[in-house]
Amino acid sequence: MFPCQEIPVFNFTFYNPVRLLFGAGQISSLSREVPKGAKVLMTYGGGSIKANGVYDQVHRSLIDSEVLEFGGIEANPLFETLMRAVEVVQRENIDFLLAVGGGSVLDGTKFISAAARFEGDPWTLLSRHMPVKDAVPYGTVLTLPATGSEMNSGAVVSRKMTREKLSFSSPLLFPKFSIVDPETTYSLPPRQVANGVVDAFVHVVEQYVTVPSKAPLQDRFSEAILRTLLEDGPRTLANPMDYDARSSFVWCATMALNGLIGCGVPQDWATHQIGHELTAFHGLDHGQTLAILLPNLLWVQRDSKREKLLQYAERVWDLREGSEAGRIEQAIISTRAFFEKMGCPTHLSDYSVGSEHFEEIVARLEGRGMIPMGEKKNLDAARVREVLAMAR
Ligand code: NZQ
Ligand code: ZN
Repeated sequence: MFPCQEIPVFNFTFYNPVRLLFGAGQISSLSREVPKGAKVLMTYGGGSIKANGVYDQVHRSLIDSEVLEFGGIEANPLFETLMRAVEVVQRENIDFLLAVGGGSVLDGTKFISAAARFEGDPWTLLSRHMPVKDAVPYGTVLTLPATGSEMNSGAVVSRKMTREKLSFSSPLLFPKFSIVDPETTYSLPPRQVANGVVDAFVHVVEQYVTVPSKAPLQDRFSEAILRTLLEDGPRTLANPMDYDARSSFVWCATMALNGLIGCGVPQDWATHQIGHELTAFHGLDHGQTLAILLPNLLWVQRDSKREKLLQYAERVWDLREGSEAGRIEQAIISTRAFFEKMGCPTHLSDYSVGSEHFEEIVARLEGRGMIPMGEKKNLDAARVREVLAMAR
């Protein structure tokens, strides 16, 4: 047991209207999910769906629908690219979007959906969090388990011109449906499997390793996802065609960020917030930034997060012996070792990235009013610098 002050669970509203179709062969259900008679714009990325057969499966299923296409949405989707899709939606009177790809295509499509019906400068949806009042309905076919974007209402968009990476969300931006077929992920390179496992793992940690609250079910959901990722992440890497391991990992990623485990509990999104800056300045993959930052953040915040770190050490890593400080340190070391074992290096130098933007990152976060960060708002500028310094 962990003697400590537990805070009461906060009031919450849980709303998740996404119809999720999970499993092998589910793309054939598309024809039933896309509204009859709709003029559809299918959005996708750099071409992986053409190489792995997903593109053909989608077209076979939508043989009776009018489908236009917009390809070329890049990883960390760019505002500049997405605005070209917005023009297509408006010019062609598109009434349904279908995102086929990873988190970037899904997020990009959320932005297209909102921007196409927005009056004013669409960048302000991100820069000033202007409210979304209307959105083009859309569905998704997910090909990369990581972000949870298939079952949430958030999106992250980058702007090339200013090297910014910003997020927004709206209840109007949940997909109408998402098709999640684990077999579509067999073609992922190991680097993207690693990114996906790390991203899902960190989503859970940021909703769980905070301060104790009277939410035992949320804690146990979180611990179940973490332990399952520890088993099925490495199994997926070792046996890419193992459907059981793959589908388990995919479902973990969806459940990690669909709102369920975060109901009524404190959250700490500092790792993500700092990580987005590392991508904005250096183009690192989202998962890589998290693998670099999370162990450092847990270390810098080890006193502040003491009780939950001890719980994490015991229930996720089976660490029950030794001093409290020793168990916490070992849990953080094990977390880093897991990311490394998945093939996701945890230092900036592993990616040939230096410290030249550290001060700019702190200044930006301060400028946006995001510092101090964390569930206790005690990750101040000095501690952000510490987290970054440890990342070298
Ligand atoms: O563009 P294509 O050719 O499709 O290739 C992609 C891309 O190069 C490739 N890929 C995707 N599915 C594949 C595949 N390659 C082979 N086989 C497949 N089945 O993988 C590469 C990376 O794809 P991307 O979509 O960028 O990865 P991910 O799903 O990790 O998404 C990352 C983006 O999502 C944001 C991140 O910040 C980043 O911009 N996030 C979105 C969140 C949300 N909406 O809730 C939360 C997350 O924390 C995250 O911030
Ligand atoms: Zn993430």
